[in-house]
Amino acid sequence: MLKNDRLDQWDRENFFHPSTHLAQHARGDSPNRVIKTASGVFIEDRDGNRLLDAFAGLYCVNAGYGRQEIAEAIAEQARELAYYHSYVGHGTEASITLAKMILDRAPANMSKVYFGLGGSDANETNVKLIWYYNNILGRPEKKKIISRWRGYHGSGLVTGSLTGLELFHKKFDLPVEQVIHTEAPYYYRRADLDQSEEQFVAHCAAELEALIEHEGADTIAAFIGEPVLGTGGIVPPPVGYWQAIQAVLKKHDILLVADEVVTGFGRLGTMFGSDHYGIEADIITIAKGLTSAYAPLSGSIVSGKVWKVLEQGADENGPIGHGWTYSAHPIGAAAGVANLKLIDALNLVSNAGETGAYLNATMAEALMGHAHVGEVRGEGMLCAVEFVKDKDSRTFFDAAEKIGPQISAKLLEQDKVIARAMPQGDILGFAPPFCLTRAEADQVVDATLRAVKAVLG
Ligand SMILES: Cc1ncc(COP(=O)(O)O)c(C=O)c1O
Repeated sequence: MLKNDRLDQWDRENFFHPSTHLAQHARGDSPNRVIKTASGVFIEDRDGNRLLDAFAGLYCVNAGYGRQEIAEAIAEQARELAYYHSYVGHGTEASITLAKMILDRAPANMSKVYFGLGGSDANETNVKLIWYYNNILGRPEKKKIISRWRGYHGSGLVTGSLTGLELFHKKFDLPVEQVIHTEAPYYYRRADLDQSEEQFVAHCAAELEALIEHEGADTIAAFIGEPVLGTGGIVPPPVGYWQAIQAVLKKHDILLVADEVVTGFGRLGTMFGSDHYGIEADIITIAKGLTSAYAPLSGSIVSGKVWKVLEQGADENGPIGHGWTYSAHPIGAAAGVANLKLIDALNLVSNAGETGAYLNATMAEALMGHAHVGEVRGEGMLCAVEFVKDKDSRTFFDAAEKIGPQISAKLLEQDKVIARAMPQGDILGFAPPFCLTRAEADQVVDATLRAVKAVLG
């Protein structure tokens, strides 16, 4: 295709981009990039730049780019049946097969999958299901949802509220009153530097319990958390965190939603983050890795315990008043089936675990000696480098200095490697496709060190 030289202008004039500085973009003060094609861990823009995407898009292209098996499955589905709805018991071979494949992989207490389109709408569904559940059980007061500061659960009205990042609340009149937040399991940023990891875990559990008691357990419906904090900074929880939190939730009869939009289908080297940390959720949110982003699809996997109450609700009230036109869209479902088959066939979950561990170890080895690297942390194919002004006193840089964004821009400029400057704090995040090789991991680490030196000396 001939290059359209007006694309840049059209972009600035017409396209309202998400998570973008709208004014700078419209004025042409910030770079734009038109992506044209991709293969493996590399993407290519229309100017012919080949970039190593060490964030797999938005940690979603888990199987890697350019997978013809998934593209073919989508094309075949589109030719045979591009659309039919899934209301009133309708389905397609792809959507029914995918539901079965998901349940075969999910923790044993899970029972059914409701399909949506993205992580945000799946979490909106979850909140509605939780409210419905407690109404059916005759507990209309038990409605509040506890999330964590720095959690990320989407950017809708309720899900933007669940998200515990300032940028997603400011000027949007969020959070809504039914959502409250508790301490993030972020040991490196603990307030009391003298606390051991064990003491910090006890502190997180005590904070949660104090919040529940303050609000009244009979007003708290659920707790939502990502097994590993993602957009809030890529922070694996301290040892014992999930056990301590689950004990508090059980005691107060509070449901647990594991938001596995990032961790589901292998990113931690296990099929689900819940397997990895011993989380027994009542609902699991899935999206991204379900189709490796080849088509939009998400899901709410509900446990037998929740499902039983939903059935009771139907017997008492009729069909559930919830559904999207595109729930279980056949093209998304076909992409999901092909993607999960490919992940199995190529052993990508174990590669995420093994190459991810290698990436984390080499990153730590290369960077921890630097005066401004406070922490290198990660789990599976997730890795983060956190920058500090002073290591010994753990003093952070002023946000206005934009150290994280500067380093990610330098990384791209010098070595054509994409890492994400996480939105809160000077943290560089890595979440490559699962097919990353050790040689590619070395390339990412070397380039990161060069970028850090170029910006921080
Ligand atoms: C853990 C988690 N939940 C939910 C979402 C929202 O998903 P989406 O952007 O598809 O709406 C995200 C997106 O990054 C996420 O990381």
